[in-house]
Amino acid sequence: MNFGGTLRFNKFSCFVLAFILFLIIYWRSGGASPTESDLVNLRSLLKASIYAAERGGKKVLSFKDAAMNVKSKGKTLEGANDPVTDADIASHCAIYYTLKNTFPKLSIVSEEAPKNQAGCSDQEAIDLASTPPAHGVIDYMVDELVYIKDVTVWIDPLDATQEYTEGLYKYVTTMVCVAIKGIPIIGVVHQPFTPGTYWGWFTKRTSDNFPSVAHKEENKNQPTVVVSRSHPGKVMEIAKEAFGPKTTVKTAAGAGYKVMGVANGTYDVYLHATAIKKWDLCAGDAIIKSVDGKMTTTKGEYIDYSTDSEVKVTDGILVTRYDHDYYLSKMPSILSSLN
Ligand SMILES: *[C@@H]1O[C@H](CO)[C@@H](O)[C@H](O)[C@H]1NC(C)=O
Repeated sequence: MNFGGTLRFNKFSCFVLAFILFLIIYWRSGGASPTESDLVNLRSLLKASIYAAERGGKKVLSFKDAAMNVKSKGKTLEGANDPVTDADIASHCAIYYTLKNTFPKLSIVSEEAPKNQAGCSDQEAIDLASTPPAHGVIDYMVDELVYIKDVTVWIDPLDATQEYTEGLYKYVTTMVCVAIKGIPIIGVVHQPFTPGTYWGWFTKRTSDNFPSVAHKEENKNQPTVVVSRSHPGKVMEIAKEAFGPKTTVKTAAGAGYKVMGVANGTYDVYLHATAIKKWDLCAGDAIIKSVDGKMTTTKGEYIDYSTDSEVKVTDGILVTRYDHDYYLSKMPSILSSLN
């Protein structure tokens, strides 16, 4: 009687013990041994992003005459597709599915999200053994593996659409950005018309085509500031009020183009005072960080590029290659006039 009770108790504790052990082993194996498909090589992702941005650029080029015609006629024909939209979608399809077909598990956020685009997904995957022409330096970089679940790719298939219809092609870019845990790490800006592709990999290097830019202390007193050409009025005043009467304000289009101009020393500051979307910013953010510059809101906050984050940034944008804290310190007094 007594013996049997003890036996039952022992059996029960053995079972509980085994069950707990099983749980521990199960839990450990889930976290400790990632399979290959849970990881992505950032060096491969950089190559694919360059190829993808350039494929998108080819689509942008191929629709340019039609887009220009729409502009000159003032409006599209009843029932006809808008070629600007067509260019946007074709570029989206090229970029999105080039990446998706190469890395099926990748999270991608795009400005365009077309439904039922025939042939849209029909993009060849990238052969990751090949390196984009003119970017051979990538062959000398080291692999870096990260969890693919931590990666969000932001794409802008056609930045500066307005200027695209006006034939102001130098402003037009296609952009791909790789964020890890919300932090922009790799940015690719492709200019289809100029043409050229620029990239930066934060903590590593940039493409070879960036000029070196010397820090000039005196620029703080006479900065060249670039603002949006589509709504320059208020932000021009804000820039002069903030940075002083010797400020030169230039206008340009396309967030990609403007950030590139800060990265290459043409402008000291890019100031944006209205709401802007993250696909306009992410690639430039990674690039400006790669040259030790900074992009923040006008309140000094970094932008979070996580997959489920709000896509709109409403506090304005401040981009500099040098002296970010100085320019930022000039911001608070004028903040109330934003938006
Ligand atoms: C620098 O960038 C601006 C704006 O993107 C561009 O107009 C200019 O040609 C670039 N200059 C150099 C030297 O790369």
